Amino acid sequence: MKINILAIESSCDETSAAVISDGKVLNNIIATQSVHEKYGGVVPELASRAHQQHLIPVVHQAMETSGISKAELSAVAFTQGPGLLGALLVGGSFAKSLAFGLGIPLIAINHMEAHVLAHFIEPPAPSFPFICLTVSGGHTQLVLVKDYLEMEVIGETLDDAVGEAFDKTAKMLGLPYPGGPEMDQLAAQGNPRAFTFPITQMKNLDFSFSGIKTAVLYFLRDQTKDDPRFIAKNLPDICASVQHALINMLMIKLRKAAKEHGINDIAIAGGVSANSGLRTALTKEAGESNWNIYVPKLEYCTDNAAMIAMAAHYKYLAGEFCDREVSPIAKMKIGNHG
Ligand code: KG4
Ligand code: ZN
Repeated sequence: MKINILAIESSCDETSAAVISDGKVLNNIIATQSVHEKYGGVVPELASRAHQQHLIPVVHQAMETSGISKAELSAVAFTQGPGLLGALLVGGSFAKSLAFGLGIPLIAINHMEAHVLAHFIEPPAPSFPFICLTVSGGHTQLVLVKDYLEMEVIGETLDDAVGEAFDKTAKMLGLPYPGGPEMDQLAAQGNPRAFTFPITQMKNLDFSFSGIKTAVLYFLRDQTKDDPRFIAKNLPDICASVQHALINMLMIKLRKAAKEHGINDIAIAGGVSANSGLRTALTKEAGESNWNIYVPKLEYCTDNAAMIAMAAHYKYLAGEFCDREVSPIAKMKIGNHG
């Protein structure tokens, strides 16, 4: 009998479902919520409502294209946290009802562990132990990955996530949401040394991105006072310079983490790992420091249910199931199992 799992992701603004069979991801259906664009950020209430609207069609499509019937499912998995409360509730409550209705196990997944395990969806996979830099709109973490379900956060942001720093800078520059991809494209045409922004240096492996956000705000305020067309005239250079500072901050800690832990297998995950500047910096460092680097396919970098399915497969093998009293949401921390 094969291990067939239906997985559901609804932690932020993507409603997604995927089916995995014996560790092989069969599909990854994602409904992206465009409703947030005009607000310049994710509006939690609108996200919950959109999940409610998209969830059943997305699950239907995942089941139908998998060729697996509900009766053949071994378990249902869902993202239990971290994420937006209402958004998590929609996916979690659905998964819970479906699993108990079908009389099969329910598996709760930590979204951040799933981002790391996205590396096992398609080869080449990193070998243990490796370090994963998870960079998204909500999180910035350095994770020491010892095994599929054995991870330790060795550094994280104390304030904003790096994706948030990209998005907030983009907003100040009048770019549409989400601003990360827009900034990336503009940065490619600019000079990263045109302007200098401060690099916040924490002592250990933690990050802080709130200082640069304020620095950009004051810089733009001062420059536009003298020249109201400053942003329009210098857009690619501003994007390239801010991106340069953000990537520098990530790379400094990544280098330090690799050295301190004596690890050469380095992975990146999360939406910001799509950034071409970060990818270039990583490739350069790999050449200089003898790193083996791992970057998942774009569809597995941003929020998706395939990574939830992958994590669920390992949890199924480990026999980590929920009981009937489980809450569809929880404050989940990496390394906190059971
Ligand atoms: O992982 P993700 O899809 O969602 C979560 O936040 O969990 O990440 C979204 C973040 C946004 O902040 C977006 O601006 C950023 O990833 N992002 C990028 C790029 N593509 C997406 N940031 C910089 N450069 C990119 N190419
Ligand atoms: Zn995410």
